[in-house]
Amino acid sequence: MIVGRKVLMKDEVASTNDVAKALAMDGEEEGVVVVAKMQHAGRGRLGRSWSSPPGGLYLSIVLRPQVSVGDMLLLTVLSSVPVAQAIEELTGLEAMLRWPNDIEVDGRKVAGILVESASKSGAVGFLVLGIGLNLNSDPAELEGPNPGSLSAITKRTYDAEASLHRVLYHLEAFYERYRGGDRDTSQYVRRSNTIGRHITASVGEQRVSGHAMYIDPQGALVIKGDDGLTYRLDSVYSLRYD
Ligand code: BTN
Repeated sequence: MIVGRKVLMKDEVASTNDVAKALAMDGEEEGVVVVAKMQHAGRGRLGRSWSSPPGGLYLSIVLRPQVSVGDMLLLTVLSSVPVAQAIEELTGLEAMLRWPNDIEVDGRKVAGILVESASKSGAVGFLVLGIGLNLNSDPAELEGPNPGSLSAITKRTYDAEASLHRVLYHLEAFYERYRGGDRDTSQYVRRSNTIGRHITASVGEQRVSGHAMYIDPQGALVIKGDDGLTYRLDSVYSLRYD
């Protein structure tokens, strides 16, 4: 077992990603998981904050994959599949993926993933896979577009420890397969609610609109722009469905 070989439970931290990063820099082996009941400086993608009230599940995992920096996007994208699988088992509902790795149930964002990494000479030294899952959170306490929690959607309360173990179980199975060379994107594509949509993607001042066509083997989103050009989105974009 790699993922979850050591699990550190905290009541409240600034960000579990920061705690995991400090451990990784101190040489901690891959697979260590940091879990907190609350975060007071939770981070999201694109420099946003991640609301981390009690009731949510906040965890970060240190991984040391033998991959180059160029392989990071695919790993990042694919890591949403095991989280989606855990959510599906917990709720019995379908979890959909908004590229690159937002997880939605019933049209509401219930989980997000933030991958942060350190590299040397083109190789990934370590990465920290941070997962925020709105388990029993009160949606009134959540920011961002269309947030939701599993409990608000299903009118049930979820056991935090059992839910954590579901997530870790699927992450371990995924990481085992990934380390064995599996790069299958079919489970991702099956849950994608981005492919086939007309979208507007923006990064800073740049903006491109068009039809999302497919995820390429590196995990980039390929779109047919309204201007007739083909665009390959392979960095941090904010996506809007038009
Ligand atoms: C996003 O959708 O923007 C990504 C959200 C990631 C949030 C998690 S919560 C655990 C870990 N610690 C953080 O500060 N962020 C990630």
